[in-house]
Amino acid sequence: MIQADLIWMNGELVAWEDAKVHVLTHALHYGTGVFEGVRAYDTKRGTAIFRHADHIDRLFRSAAMYLMEIPYTREEIRAATHETIARNNLKSCYIRPLVYRGAGPMGLFPLDCPVDVTIAVWEWGAYLGEEGKRLGVRGKVSSFRRISSDSVIPAAKATGQYLNSVLAKIESHKSGYEEAILLDDRGMVCEGSGENLFFVKDGVIATPGFSSDILGGINRASAITIARDLGYTVVERDIARGELYLADEIFMTGTAAELTPLREVDDRPVGSGEPGEITRAIQSEFEDALHGRSERYADWLDVVAAPAPAT
Ligand SMILES: Cc1ncc(COP(=O)(O)O)c(C=O)c1O
Repeated sequence: MIQADLIWMNGELVAWEDAKVHVLTHALHYGTGVFEGVRAYDTKRGTAIFRHADHIDRLFRSAAMYLMEIPYTREEIRAATHETIARNNLKSCYIRPLVYRGAGPMGLFPLDCPVDVTIAVWEWGAYLGEEGKRLGVRGKVSSFRRISSDSVIPAAKATGQYLNSVLAKIESHKSGYEEAILLDDRGMVCEGSGENLFFVKDGVIATPGFSSDILGGINRASAITIARDLGYTVVERDIARGELYLADEIFMTGTAAELTPLREVDDRPVGSGEPGEITRAIQSEFEDALHGRSERYADWLDVVAAPAPAT
């Protein structure tokens, strides 16, 4: 991991190594935090954050679902993110805003604990590798089912909920695969440990919907828009595990993984075993949108002002 210099903590920029919390931080014990994963790209218009407003909206929605009031406005979070990127002199980076219950009264009732906010940034390449984006990765259906809204709030991006993804990720890694595919509590295909899933069969694209307890991925929404703009039909529907073995193409979307094809599921090649034509077409438009090469999706980018020269 490539460290940056500064991290934004509750309104101030502090040195990376000083960005510390108390051991009685509520979120450390009970997972009472919400967060975002966002990326900024080096574009011809300058450093630009992909779908920043959508990420900030989801952060506020996640917090609200867990009854946490963020002590900053959306505009303040946006400005703080811009400042953190600019002061770290980063042209492209991953951005991790975190809102969490800080040190306060112990015990499960969290509402008397403070709500703390941090924004960290660092340089981070493709999560599943550049080669993975090009050639596809190998996925395995996890023995861990995706969390369901019977017990938590899968639509929220909450820290404690990620134990589910962590278990699936460790299992797939130890079994020699790059990514885990989680089924929902009914046994229908849900998503990767940190990505949404798309399945292509006979030219039609399908992706699990919210009734499968997916996280509403911002890159999922982008891929759906791009696919429809390219003239493809995209449907949200239940996908049975067995359908994965019949797919012509499968790809995943997420901020960390961007758009990464799956070339194998459970040791069975997906289609020809190479990323297919539809995946390639969407991936190419998507990469153009991320890197500011697309006029059509230019308003998905929030350009960061260059840092003020030192006086
Ligand atoms: C569990 C899970 N599903 C899906 C996604 C994809 O969401 P997004 O495209 O907004 O990054 C992520 C990543 O944030 C995730 O952690």
